[in-house]
Amino acid sequence: MDRRGFISICAAGAAVGINPAQAANLRPRFYARVRLVDEARQPLRAANLAANRNYIFHYPYAATPCFLLNLGKPTQQAVTLKTETGGDYEWPGGVGPQNAIVGYSAICAHQLSYPTRQISFISYRSQPGPSRLTHGNVIHCCSEHSEYDPATGARVLGGPAPQPLSAILLEHDRVNDHLYAVGTLGGEMFEAFFAKYEFKLAIEYGDKRARQPVTGAAVVAELQKYCRQQVQC
Ligand code: FES
Repeated sequence: MDRRGFISICAAGAAVGINPAQAANLRPRFYARVRLVDEARQPLRAANLAANRNYIFHYPYAATPCFLLNLGKPTQQAVTLKTETGGDYEWPGGVGPQNAIVGYSAICAHQLSYPTRQISFISYRSQPGPSRLTHGNVIHCCSEHSEYDPATGARVLGGPAPQPLSAILLEHDRVNDHLYAVGTLGGEMFEAFFAKYEFKLAIEYGDKRARQPVTGAAVVAELQKYCRQQVQC
């Protein structure tokens, strides 16, 4: 959704008499408009995103990981969701061909498990896992089995997560097939993330670099290449 798209959703609500404050009281948070690029630093084309594969990039801060997924089929549009503190918001759906491309913060809303270079407990899987708790077509966190539906704004399907993953707002340029990240929607976990992992992030990124806002471009990599071990469950 771009800024214009968001405005048009608000306008549509007004046309049918919906009070936007009742329909959705949480607004998108816009950060820098960042072009998504591949590992060769070339603009990423939506057509080159393999369906049902985990891609990762960092946004809106240098150390905050996000999933980029091509679900390979249309996502639901205009899904109403709620944060842990009761904030309502409307996830607009995916972008690109078939509205199948979605972005989410990869920080689990339960206890902030996230993909690192060494290991990832959380990822998308198109097939059920070995555990009876793991279904197909979900983002699943093997830490305590929180499960999210990426086709409906990462709403919680099961497990202890108290709210959906924060959505990353994406724009798709139909002319050149490029993708941009522009903001977030829903319950951000960034402050809790920086507080919990302060020491670890300082070692990894150096003083304060973890919180550096991402500007210009964000490199998208396959999770399989980014992370040495993906935990399956
Ligand atoms: S941290 Fe993900 S389920 Fe607990």
